[in-house]
Amino acid sequence: MDMKIVCIPGDGIGPEIVSQAKLVLERVAEIYGHSVETKDVLMGGASIDEYGIPLTDETIAACKSADAVLMGSIGGDAATSPWYKLPPDKRPEAGLLGIRKALGLFANLRPAYLYPELKSACPLKEETCVKGFDLLIMRELTGGLYFGARKTEQIDGKRVATDTLVYSEDEIRRIAIKAFDVARKRRRLVTSVDKANVLDSSRLWRAVVEEVARDYQDVELKHMLVDNCAMQLVRDPSQFDVVLTENMFGDILSDEASMITGSIGMLPSASLNETSFGLYEPSHGSAPDIAGKDIANPIATILSAAMMLRYSFSLEKEADAIEKAVQDTLRDGVRTGDLILPGDTRKSVGCRAMGMEIVSRIA
Ligand code: IPM
Ligand code: MG
Repeated sequence: MDMKIVCIPGDGIGPEIVSQAKLVLERVAEIYGHSVETKDVLMGGASIDEYGIPLTDETIAACKSADAVLMGSIGGDAATSPWYKLPPDKRPEAGLLGIRKALGLFANLRPAYLYPELKSACPLKEETCVKGFDLLIMRELTGGLYFGARKTEQIDGKRVATDTLVYSEDEIRRIAIKAFDVARKRRRLVTSVDKANVLDSSRLWRAVVEEVARDYQDVELKHMLVDNCAMQLVRDPSQFDVVLTENMFGDILSDEASMITGSIGMLPSASLNETSFGLYEPSHGSAPDIAGKDIANPIATILSAAMMLRYSFSLEKEADAIEKAVQDTLRDGVRTGDLILPGDTRKSVGCRAMGMEIVSRIA
C-alpha cells in the first residue's frame, strides 16, 4: 500500500516525538512491503511564527490531500510565550480547533490501557491496579462548548462572559453510532456520560443515544453522570469499555483516564470523520518545559501511528506489530523518565533512544 501522510510536528516536544513515530512507520513499511510518503506542514505556534496565524489554508489543503495526518502537539507556555499575547482566535489552540472543524473530525477516540509492565506506575490503590483496565473514550470533537457562540461584554459596567453549549440530534447520533460500532469490536458495553440532571443538551444526548442503542441490541448501554464518572474512573476503571461523551466532558475525562495509566506520555488518539481519513495525535500536550532536551516519551505518538494504520489504512497486522514492539520494549525494562517512579533506580532513556528501542523490536 502507498500511504500519503501529512505530518504536523507542531510545537514544544512535537517535532521530537513525531520524528520517532515516522521512523517507526518507515520500519513497518519496509518489513511489510508498503511505501510511506510524508510531508511536514506547520500549525499552531510554529505557523504563527512563520505566517502570523495558527492555521493556513495551505495546511488545511495539504491535510485534505493526504490519506491521514500525524500530529505531534501544539501550544506553548501560556505565561511566557508571546503567542498568548495574541487574541484567542489567533493562538496556537485555535489552529487545532480549526483543523478539527475543517476536516470534520467529529469522533475522537482515546484509548486508555494499563500496561501490565506499568502497574507499579499507576497512582490508584494496589487492588485497583492489579485488576487493570482497558477503556476507550469516544469524545465528540466538533460541537458543544468548544464551538458554540462566545462573547465577553460589559453589562451595567461589569464584564460578563458567555459560552454556548449546543448539540443537534444529528451531531449526537453520528458520534453515538461510532461508539456502538467500536464497542462491537471490543467488550460490547457503552457508558454514555452526560449531565442530564442539569443540562438540556445532556437530556437530548441521552434520548438520542437511547434511540441509536435500539439498533445495537448486542451492545449494553449504561448512562452515567459526568461527576460520578470522574469518581468511578479512579475508584474502578475496569468497569468501563467504551465511554461516550460530549466535547468538554471528554476533554476532562480523557486527561484523567490517561493519568491513571501511569503517565500521560502513553496515550494515543485518533480523530475521525465519516470516512477512513483521520488525524492521529498523542493525547498529551506540547510540554514546552522539556522541549528539545531529548527526554520526552514518544510512545503516545508511536501508538497514534499504530491507530493510523488500523483506522485509516486497515493494516491490522502492522498496527499490532507496533503495539507489540512497544509492549516488548516496556517488558524489557526500557523507560523514559516519566515512567520511572521515585525509588526506582533504573536508568532512563531519552526520546530518540526509546524510538530506536521500539524500531528494533518491530517484527
Ligand atoms: C486536547 C487538548 C485540546 C482540547 C486543547 C489544546 C485545545 O486539551 O486535545 O485534549 O481541549 O481539545
Ligand atoms: Mg485536553
